Amino acid sequence: MSNNSATDTATTSLISPNISSNVFTPSTPLKLGILASGNGSNFEAVAQAIDSGQLNAQIQVLIYNNPEAKAAIRAKNRGVEAVLLNHRDYKNREKFDRQLIQTLQQYDVEWVILAGWMRLLTGVLIDAFPESIINIHPSLLPSFKGIHAVEQALASGVKITGCTVHLACLEVDSGPIIMQAAVPILPDDTAETLHARIQIQEHRILPQAIALAAKRRSPILNYS
Ligand code: GRF
Repeated sequence: MSNNSATDTATTSLISPNISSNVFTPSTPLKLGILASGNGSNFEAVAQAIDSGQLNAQIQVLIYNNPEAKAAIRAKNRGVEAVLLNHRDYKNREKFDRQLIQTLQQYDVEWVILAGWMRLLTGVLIDAFPESIINIHPSLLPSFKGIHAVEQALASGVKITGCTVHLACLEVDSGPIIMQAAVPILPDDTAETLHARIQIQEHRILPQAIALAAKRRSPILNYS
């Protein structure tokens, strides 16, 4: 037993299902399209998992809707195509989503990864990629949906929160859960410190959850 219990609490996490020692590898690379509105640390985590051989996938395109998104710089630095689709240029959500679909299809995307994508999805997009849109959210769903999940968890007084990777559906931050990681809330936590620890877990589970979702949809023989 460690005598540094504060450090233990800060770094302890519970991931379920725990597949870290049993990585699922599709025989052909998964073709990913990543949608991001901001910093893009989850984009980076997926790219690193691909580089390290943890995830057999290829990022076909990064689509961003905010001209300031740091995710675009990360993509360009990695030689990943980055396409700006600014939602403000479209009359309504459906028209925007139709353009998203066209771009995703143009890049031959089979899995759409919402990595900090701050837009509501329409049925148009959901129907175009059935059970193939994966979202990451900074709470243990179904608790604390919406954009202020970390602040909500802090305000509620819960002692454990975390992050969830799930298949997206029309209802925001809902849909079948693929993987979750629990993160303890510490007495001195602010939204920033807590979110930072949640993000460490997000970066661990997102690549694995992508592989797991793909595995569930494919014949077992296509995996090693
Ligand atoms: C993450 O916390 C994710 O759960 C939420 O938005 C944040 C995106 O972070 N949906 P980043 O842009 O990947 O760093």
